[in-house]
Amino acid sequence: MCGIVGYIGKQDSKEILLRGLEKLEYRGYDSAGIAVVNENGVQVFKEKGRIATLREAVDEAVIAPVGIGHTRWATHGVPSKVNAHPHQSSSERFTLVHNGVIENYNHLKRDYLDGVSFKSDTDTEIVVQLIEKFVNDGHQIEDAFKETLKLLKGSYAIALLDNQDQNTIYVAKNKSPLLVGLGDDFNVVASDAMAMLQVTNQYVELMDKEIVIVTRESVTIKTLEGRVVERAPYTAELDASDIEKGTYPHYMLKEIDEQPAVLRKIIGNYRNDNGELTVDEEIRQAMVDTDRVYIIAAGTSYHAGLLGKQYIEKIAQIPVEVHISSEFSYNMPLLSGKPLFIFISQSGETADSRAVLVQVKEMGYKALTITNVQGSTLSREADFTLLLHAGPEIAVASTKAYTAQVAVLSILARDAARAKGIEISFDLSKELGIVASAMETLCDDKEEMEKIAREYLSTTRNCFFIGRGIDYYVGMEGALKLKEISYIQAEGFAGGELKHGTIALIEEGTPIIALATQEIVNLGIRGNVKEVVARGANPCIISMKGLNEEDDRYVISADVHELFTPLLSVIPVQLISYYAALHRECDVDKPRNLAKSVTVE
Ligand code: M6R
Repeated sequence: MCGIVGYIGKQDSKEILLRGLEKLEYRGYDSAGIAVVNENGVQVFKEKGRIATLREAVDEAVIAPVGIGHTRWATHGVPSKVNAHPHQSSSERFTLVHNGVIENYNHLKRDYLDGVSFKSDTDTEIVVQLIEKFVNDGHQIEDAFKETLKLLKGSYAIALLDNQDQNTIYVAKNKSPLLVGLGDDFNVVASDAMAMLQVTNQYVELMDKEIVIVTRESVTIKTLEGRVVERAPYTAELDASDIEKGTYPHYMLKEIDEQPAVLRKIIGNYRNDNGELTVDEEIRQAMVDTDRVYIIAAGTSYHAGLLGKQYIEKIAQIPVEVHISSEFSYNMPLLSGKPLFIFISQSGETADSRAVLVQVKEMGYKALTITNVQGSTLSREADFTLLLHAGPEIAVASTKAYTAQVAVLSILARDAARAKGIEISFDLSKELGIVASAMETLCDDKEEMEKIAREYLSTTRNCFFIGRGIDYYVGMEGALKLKEISYIQAEGFAGGELKHGTIALIEEGTPIIALATQEIVNLGIRGNVKEVVARGANPCIISMKGLNEEDDRYVISADVHELFTPLLSVIPVQLISYYAALHRECDVDKPRNLAKSVTVE
C-alpha cells in the first residue's frame, strides 16, 4: 500500500526520492508525488499513475537537499493528481505525506477546521490543515504536530515539511510502518528499508505515538509527552541484488524459481546440531502448553494456514482453528482455556492481522508470528517470531513466501510432536530436501506450463480449481493466484461441493484445473471431474505419479510423503497463473487495485 520516503542531506533530493519510490512500487499504488524544499520554498510534483509519469513532471532545474515522497493506494478519494500526496496546508507553509487511514477525519474537519477550504477528498489533508491551525493559534511547529497527532484516530505514518525550515523533516507513526535511516551527513525516512538501501543499511525502528525530528545531522525521537527516547540502529540484512530482477522479466517468475533455494535455506536455518529441524525452546514450550492453536492470516497466508492446521493436527496432535484476520475481531469464536495464537504474514504488516494481535495481547494470550520480515510490526508485537528466510518478496502475488510458510509450519508441527513424545514415521528434513529437488524439476518445466496456460486460459472468462483434502487448499491458492494477476474469475472448490450449486456455472469449455495428489481422495476427485466433463468442462488434471491416469495433463514425479505434495502441486499452479497473466498482457508484478503490504483494515 502507500509508501513514504524522505531525504535530508547535502545532495539534491529529487533522484534519491524518485529511486526510493521506485523501490516501493511493489507495494501497490495508483499515484505518486514528491515535495522538495530549498531557499525558494517548497515545490510539489505529483501525478496520477506510475512513477515514470511523475519523473517526467519533475522540474530538473529545481535543486533541493530536503524532500519527501509518496506512493498512494487510494482509500479516501479516487486515484487522481489532486488526491495524490504530498498535501499542503492552505498557506502552503506545511507539506505532508501520510500512509494509513484517519478514521475521525470528518469529525476533526467539523470540530476544528470550519471555514477551511479543502482541495482533495483525502483524509490526509485534514492532518496538514490541523497542523497549520495549531501554528496559527500560537503553537511552535513541534507542539502543533503533537497536538494534531493526539487528535487522530486510526493509522498513520507521516512525514512533514515546513517551507520555512530547510533543515527538518518531522516524522510520526501509529500502526503504519515507518523507519528512519542513518547516513553520514544525511538521514532518510522510508516505509521499508528496501526503499533507501541505495544510500544506507542502518535503520532506527520507530514506535507508535512517537515523534521524530530528523535533521541532516541528527535524529531525535520523543514520546508525545516530550520524553526523549534513545534507540540503537540496526543493520538491514538486505542485499541490494535481492531486490533486483536480474535477468528475469518479472519478479514473480524470479520468486517462483527461488523456491527450492528458499526451502534449503529454511532447512539450514532450522536444523540443530543433531540434524533435527527445531524451533526455539520457548516456542516449543508454548506449543506443548496450549490446548488449541488459532491461526490468523489473510489471503495466501490464510491458505498456508489451512495447510498448517493439517500439519499441527496430524503431526503434533494439537487442535487448530484457522481464521481470516479481517473476520476474527468481531466474530471471535469461543476460545479454549489455553489458546496460542499464530499470525502468518509475509510482510508482517497486514493491518487486519495486527488488529487481532493487539486484541489478543490485551486479553493476555501468547502470540507467535511467522513472517518474512524481521522487525516487522507483527513480529515486534508478538511474543515469538519464526522467520521465513525467503528473502524480499517483491511481486504482489505471493509465491515463495507461501511455500516458506508451509515449510516453517511443518517444522513447528514436527518439533511440537518431538516435544510431546509423538512418534513420526518420516524424516522431515529428508522430505523437505526431496521437495526442494522436485521443485527444481517443476520450475524447469516452464514451457509445458506456458502451453497449459495458453490452451486453457488464454480466452476464458472464468476457471475453477478443484481438489479434495489438502488439494482443495492448494486449489484455493491457485484460484487466488490466477485471479489476482490475470483477472480471470477463478474459484477454488472442494471437489464434492461443486454439485451443491456451483456446477450450474459449468458451460461448454469452462476450464477446470483438478488436483489429484492424495491417494485417499483420488477416486473421489476423478469422479468430480467426470461430473463437470459431462457438462462440457475442459479438464486439466494435475496429479502425482503413482496416482496418475492416462488423460492427466501434468504429472508430478516425486517420492515424497503425501502431506508435502502441496509444496509441489502449487508450483504448476503458480506458473500457469503467471503465463495466463502474460498471455493476457497483464501487469504481472503490479496487478490492478492490489497492494503488496495491506496496511489498512
Ligand atoms: O503480508 P501478508 O502475508 O500478511 O499478506 C496477506 C495477503 O494480503 C497476501 O497473501 C495476498 O493475498 C497476496 N497478494 C496473494 O498473492
